[in-house]
Amino acid sequence: MGSEIPAHVAIIMDGNGRWAKRRNMPRTYGHVQGAKTVEKICRDADELGIRYLTLYAFSTENWNRPGGEVEALMELFHKYLGICYKNAMENDMCCRIIGDKTRLSQKLRDSMAKLEGDTADHKGLHLQLAINYGARDEIARMVRHTVEEALNGGLSVNDIDEDYISSHLDTAGIPDPDLLIRTCGEQRISNYLLWQCAYTEFYYTDTAWPDFDRDELVRAINAYQDRDRRYGKV
Ligand code: IPE
Ligand code: IPE
Ligand code: MG
Repeated sequence: MGSEIPAHVAIIMDGNGRWAKRRNMPRTYGHVQGAKTVEKICRDADELGIRYLTLYAFSTENWNRPGGEVEALMELFHKYLGICYKNAMENDMCCRIIGDKTRLSQKLRDSMAKLEGDTADHKGLHLQLAINYGARDEIARMVRHTVEEALNGGLSVNDIDEDYISSHLDTAGIPDPDLLIRTCGEQRISNYLLWQCAYTEFYYTDTAWPDFDRDELVRAINAYQDRDRRYGKV
């Protein structure tokens, strides 16, 4: 039993579609509500003393969804990044996008670059948004980069250790998650932070992401504080 607030919380924000379906609304309506939850949870996480928050917004597998839904999500990300920029400026939030940006539109990449560039020195909540993120893809990109460096003569085989790998993933410089939360009942990892979650505590709730709130976050933190952790402690 402890009273420590997890420094890094990662969330698989799941259930937007089911939440909307239960209300006889289109799935995209669930995504819009989900984006509002993101805004609120960033504030709550900061107030509760969480230092790093990593949110899974779009996986490399999510391209397989119907075209209309993918398009609506991309539009929503663009709109949300604008809102996030304003909040980051007001609340000293430092924002970073993890995932492969090369498949995203120039418009989206421009707003990501502005958000990341202008908030890089901020000292408040460190928010990482995973967009077109897949852990296997992240590892494959890291391996390609490593082999290139080795072929160019800049790296020897013995340089490649756990620290090297951690510092060449998208999450470089950020401590591993202490707590991973998945909403809406599923209990799988869906290609999220596979390397980083080696000793992360997992917490599941049936609540769908649009209904996730500060009380739910506090419940997850309380459950985390009741765990007897192994090697993950920093
Ligand atoms: C999570 O909600 C948001 C994204 C993956 C973009 P879902 O869209 O997966 O909602 P369900 O799981 O179908 O209810
Ligand atoms: C995981 O949710 C990805 C995000 C939350 C962005 P999914 O709903 O896409 O995952 P699966 O398909 O249920 O594993
Ligand atoms: Mg889902």
